[in-house]
Amino acid sequence: MNADIRVSDDPAQEAAELLAAAGGHVALTGGSTPRITYERAAVLREDWSGVDFWFTDERCVPPDHEHSNFGLAERALLSRVTGATVHRIRGELGPEDGAAAYENELDEVGPEALDLTLLGLGPDAHICSLFPGDEALGERERRVVGVETPGMAPLVSRITLTLPVVNASGQIMFLVAGENKADAVKRVFADAADPSAPGSLVDGNVVALLDPPAAALL
Ligand code: 6PG
Repeated sequence: MNADIRVSDDPAQEAAELLAAAGGHVALTGGSTPRITYERAAVLREDWSGVDFWFTDERCVPPDHEHSNFGLAERALLSRVTGATVHRIRGELGPEDGAAAYENELDEVGPEALDLTLLGLGPDAHICSLFPGDEALGERERRVVGVETPGMAPLVSRITLTLPVVNASGQIMFLVAGENKADAVKRVFADAADPSAPGSLVDGNVVALLDPPAAALL
């Protein structure tokens, strides 16, 4: 992949600065890695007027559930700032109805292309809730799909943006940390693109913010 790879001891800080400087339509990633970035971005910028927050994916749970990606972003960022418009994925509707509802919202009030999409990376090299071997990874028409059986914990069904939406983004920012991600990072950023490593199919204006353990095999 052609990416601007930046390795530092504190990639969360650079991610927070890039996020705090963002405008337009911004898709927030799930998982645990971005929490610190969200907390720091909330300190760096109080007024997010002009920003529409979307989500790359969600677990099919209520927004106050411990596994809710919205819940994490709400606690770490959204509840601490003002001015932004937030487009939550309604995971509680289930994979099919939730995906259809979010696709409608994207169609009705969303952009042709997101301005900034944040991505984490699973140890299996999945992005969003696009897991290796799952048909959702091959979707090219729909912008949002449901995933009945995720390839990784938490083992609850998911709702996810599809690859064309990610790749159409003005900028794509990976934030990846930890030794357990080193193999996935190599497969995504060093090896040839391969559907068995969904992250390697990302293509566009990509910046990858990594810590040294995650970048160890590059
Ligand atoms: C999700 C995410 C997923 C995440 C990776 C990394 O809902 O799980 O969107 O794509 O980014 O699984 O997760 P961690 O940051 O927790 O390692």
